[in-house]
Amino acid sequence: MSDVTSIPVGGERPYQVLVGRDLLDELPGLLPGAAQAAVLHALPLREVADRAAATLDAVGVAPMLVEVPDAEAGKDIEVAADCWDRLGAAGFTRTDAVVGVGGGAVTDLAGFVAACWLRGVRAVQVPTSLLGMVDAAVGGKTGVNTAAGKNLVGAFHPPAGVLCDMSTLDTLPAVDLVAGLAEVVKCGFIADPAILDLVEEDPHRHLRELTERAVRVKARSCRRTCASRGRARSSTTGTRSGTPSSGTRGMRGGTGTRSRSGWSTPPHWAGCPGASTGRPPTGTAASCPGSACR
Ligand SMILES: NC(=O)c1ccc[n+]([C@@H]2O[C@H](COP(=O)([O-])OP(=O)(O)OC[C@H]3O[C@@H](n4cnc5c(N)ncnc54)[C@H](O)[C@@H]3O)[C@@H](O)[C@H]2O)c1
Repeated sequence: MSDVTSIPVGGERPYQVLVGRDLLDELPGLLPGAAQAAVLHALPLREVADRAAATLDAVGVAPMLVEVPDAEAGKDIEVAADCWDRLGAAGFTRTDAVVGVGGGAVTDLAGFVAACWLRGVRAVQVPTSLLGMVDAAVGGKTGVNTAAGKNLVGAFHPPAGVLCDMSTLDTLPAVDLVAGLAEVVKCGFIADPAILDLVEEDPHRHLRELTERAVRVKARSCRRTCASRGRARSSTTGTRSGTPSSGTRGMRGGTGTRSRSGWSTPPHWAGCPGASTGRPPTGTAASCPGSACR
């Protein structure tokens, strides 16, 4: 592997974020044992998706190109349902995989499709926007938008690996590069002041280093989130930390945990008006002294 930076992300299922140029050849190595892989992408990334598919094909993993609507239009439950229909028609099994090629919208969708198919198959993310690289594709938060709001439906499903191929940024529209840089600067203020110096000097010249530094910040924050999720899980379900419990999977607010005796409620629902019914929090922060509704 030439000039590739590998950044580990911990948690129940640790994985690596690889940063470099022309990284698509690394894709098959992240999917050992897969017989087929669905490559989700939107039209602007068709060429990158084609290359990813060719790489998989070359090592005997049958690629299935799945084009989805671009940007937020793709983060839709109907689009996810179409993807599941395609996986079903192709006979996708537990060892097969989903690859997300695109900006944060596509990687959110691809992760969600993978999280739900057979209750979880491998996802590999190939983010092609800066925001996707430093934020959306790292950490395992996946989801779609609904009429009730953005990102309200989703699952926590860490990827099997993330490939940040800097060469894909060559075609990223300037406005989207700036959006990603805003996230990078945020990482600078929160955790790594050297980022601010590099941005001030020349963000284009230092783009790779900035990406790596911001991914490291995100990876550290993932470790903390995963650790606290593990603690919450073991204290609410009595399971060993690190043992997945399907009852507590989900995005913020989560769900109650079904036991033989009925519904128990996680501690962050404490005092929530909805908690005594065992239903998810109502979303009305004002009436909720717990943290679930905020
Ligand atoms: N899961 C998370 O933790 C997390 C974190 C932050 C953001 N997000 C989500 O990410 C999404 C925003 O991501 P985004 O800023 O990447 O926007 P986006 O995915 O909508 O992409 C913006 C546009 O850039 C295009 N594009 C992407 N890469 C390109 C490339 N290399 N060349 C040419 N065009 C390219 C896309 O096709 C799209 O038209 C939102 O849906 C947000 O909710 C998720």
